[in-house]
Amino acid sequence: MRISAVAPRGMIAPVPAVPDLPVLPDLSDRTVLVTGANAGLGYFATEQLAAAGAHVLLACRSAERAARAVAAVRARVPGARLDVAGLDLADLGSVAACARAVDVGLDAVLCNAGVTGTDGRRTTADGLELMMGGNAFGHLALVAGLADRLRPGARVVTVGSIASRWSPLDLDDLQAERGFRSFRQYGRSKTAAMALAFTLDRRWRAAGRDGLALAAHPGFAVDVLSPSRPGVVEPSAVARRLARPARLLVQGKDAGAWPLVHACVGAGVRGGGYWGPGGVQELLGPPAPARAHDHVRSSDTGDRLWAAAEQATGLSLAGLA
Ligand SMILES: NC(=O)c1ccc[n+]([C@@H]2O[C@H](COP(=O)([O-])OP(=O)(O)OC[C@H]3O[C@@H](n4cnc5c(N)ncnc54)[C@H](OP(=O)(O)O)[C@@H]3O)[C@@H](O)[C@H]2O)c1
Repeated sequence: MRISAVAPRGMIAPVPAVPDLPVLPDLSDRTVLVTGANAGLGYFATEQLAAAGAHVLLACRSAERAARAVAAVRARVPGARLDVAGLDLADLGSVAACARAVDVGLDAVLCNAGVTGTDGRRTTADGLELMMGGNAFGHLALVAGLADRLRPGARVVTVGSIASRWSPLDLDDLQAERGFRSFRQYGRSKTAAMALAFTLDRRWRAAGRDGLALAAHPGFAVDVLSPSRPGVVEPSAVARRLARPARLLVQGKDAGAWPLVHACVGAGVRGGGYWGPGGVQELLGPPAPARAHDHVRSSDTGDRLWAAAEQATGLSLAGLA
């Protein structure tokens, strides 16, 4: 990948080159489920995995948008091995049905889908606040439902965010019933998703399981700096030109997907790890270990959150851990 985010002193920083696809090993023996695979980071992660030969299950809430993503991948990767599963993370019935429908062993699950903000407090079909309920608890419920399809050494990768840095949880008000601010609740849902990933990994280690649960984040990645994929992402030439200066601190979602893909299939990845872009402030660049704040890694917070997730979803997660 060729990204030079920092210019030598006194020089104007060059506009970084469009990043190449990551060089991945042959993945023809791997199967990866990607949530939210029809758009953004999930789409580009799917494309990169499929290009390396992986069988990818696109778990999406719209069959039509999923079909467009499948067509876009196949236009670039003829013969790509792709299947679609219906998944609405904001409905635990749909989550359970998606998990039941998966009839292959999985080497990785990329818990990527997410809502990044809502206009006022909204709820899932089960009455949970939408971002906490879908981004965090919905993915935990999905992984629980898939537990017996995880192959030995499988990786469960949760997409976190830099927003987790300034978003400690309020364990007494996870559902934002006492006050809702969209950006704050989004950050908390990402903190919760990451904390659940690290808790799952601790529990797997304690139980002697060989799966890896970890987190990864894309830095700051936007559609307008992404390469065009007809039917999926089509930034206009004008918007792309206007966005060029932002390339110093922001990247396309193709590049943002790279740390997520690395966490799913790359070398040197451990359970409990956290990967993100290695460039300036973890905003862009190739994959590198990232730093998760103490409030995200706290085992006390993680255990209490796990119990709260069990209570909120009505699921027993004992089979998962
Ligand atoms: N972009 C960034 O800079 C950035 C930074 C940090 C973290 N992230 C995280 O990265 C993930 C992907 O972000 P993105 O930028 O690629 O967003 P995006 O382009 O808006 O794509 C979001 C994906 O999630 C799916 N989704 C949303 N709600 C869903 C639900 N209830 N059930 C199933 N799928 C659902 C969307 O499906 P539809 O197409 O059907 O809506 C879409 O496929 C999110 O978890 C986000 O928090 C992104």
